[in-house]
Amino acid sequence: MAAYDIVIRNGQVADGTGKKLFAADVALKGDRIAAVEAPGSLRGDNEIDAKGKVVAPGFIDVHTHDDTALIDNPTMAMKASQGVTTVVCGNCGVSAAPYVRSDIGHFLSLIVKKKGNVSKNFAAFAAKVDAAKPAINGAFLIGHGTLRMNAMGDDIGRTATAAEIVVMRDLLDQSLEQGAIGMSSGLFYAVANAASTDEVAEVAKPLGKWGGVYTAHMRDEGDDILKAMDETFEIGRRAGASIIVSHHKCSGRSNFGRMKETLPKFTEAMKQQEIAFDVYPYIAGSTILRSDMLDRADKVLITWSDKVPGVSGRDLKEIAQEMGCSMREAADRLQPAGAIYFMMDEKDVQSAMAHPGAMIGSDGIPFDTHPHPRLWGTFPRVLGHYSRDLKLFPLEDAVRRMTSYSAGRFHLTKRGEVRPGFYADICLFDPATVIDTATFDKPISPARGIDTVLCNGQIVWRDGKPGGGRAGHALKRQDMQNEAKA
Ligand code: ZN
Ligand code: CU
Repeated sequence: MAAYDIVIRNGQVADGTGKKLFAADVALKGDRIAAVEAPGSLRGDNEIDAKGKVVAPGFIDVHTHDDTALIDNPTMAMKASQGVTTVVCGNCGVSAAPYVRSDIGHFLSLIVKKKGNVSKNFAAFAAKVDAAKPAINGAFLIGHGTLRMNAMGDDIGRTATAAEIVVMRDLLDQSLEQGAIGMSSGLFYAVANAASTDEVAEVAKPLGKWGGVYTAHMRDEGDDILKAMDETFEIGRRAGASIIVSHHKCSGRSNFGRMKETLPKFTEAMKQQEIAFDVYPYIAGSTILRSDMLDRADKVLITWSDKVPGVSGRDLKEIAQEMGCSMREAADRLQPAGAIYFMMDEKDVQSAMAHPGAMIGSDGIPFDTHPHPRLWGTFPRVLGHYSRDLKLFPLEDAVRRMTSYSAGRFHLTKRGEVRPGFYADICLFDPATVIDTATFDKPISPARGIDTVLCNGQIVWRDGKPGGGRAGHALKRQDMQNEAKA
């Protein structure tokens, strides 16, 4: 009997650290990488020929809303097909736990399709994820917006009282103790927009104690972005937490080119405190349909509408013309709904992605009828379009921004590198052909060139379809911290 379960032979290893590609065989045993050795030196019960392919760590999607998709849709094809083996959930201030109310409000419905998937505490939620046996791993942030809905009911148009802050802080503290990895806020959204800086900083206090991270969909990504960055940095400092600014962008035509201001500001701040940010590789964003966002977008596509389901995928301008009304009026008639907004400058997107503080996150929204193509395309698009075709950065660096850098910033122990002792999360891809195929017209489409993907030693994607592996689980803060110490 061979010493290893699987040996990936003859590939070029991009080990995740940014080190130059090197030829090696990679052996897996159980859920771990057991050896990385000279080509031809290892033998396994199963061998995968990786000739002409790159052997990379499985990608880490640091910005997702896949909290309950892991339960409802456990093969996670939209992510496994891209080589993603871990998703960080609970971003933008919205998480499926802890949630003590019986109703699912509009904001929570962004990430929850079945009521049974929310949980009163984080431990119960993580147990639901584990019971679903997802193909890939999830790590979970607690949403400040979700905490607000618990503590303040529907009376959210104001900052929280001292007593409400205590309720939120205790819920966060308990969630972190049970395994959540941090807190996210979405001060841009109605559910949290009235919160003061003090409120968020006070609620976030337990992050310092537990070593949790703070991610922020900032209050403003347009005219007032610099102020919003200062606010975010202050919250991180006061909470004693490292910061990841979410989906960094300068939004709206009048703010095009302002990466020249924000990126140097990041560079400066990164010298003082732990700060990084995530970026998705597109000039369009996507979230709920909001009439105050219509003016700043060059084009708006509808991603879903409960009232008028037929409009998914269509241009709001055309819909308004057919309805014989303004875009604003049309938007009102479609609500509740979701939309894609073309509102960024291509040059800004590229300079953000290439900044030393940047990692890749999709921000895909899993339950949209006509989703943003980032849900299925983000990682192959960075590899194929931005790295190979536009040469924005070398392949090794592209991989690093999807793996070891991300794992480091989110404290995901022993993930993100092809190295003995690390988890057997692997993405095997063809560097010559890898590319996204999901488009704004046809967004549900698996990438090309992603050959084989393994998570915790099990094949989760192969030959263009799910591989059957279901060894993913909820990655808990305390387990990862213990393993980092060991
Ligand atoms: Zn967001
Ligand atoms: Cu988001």
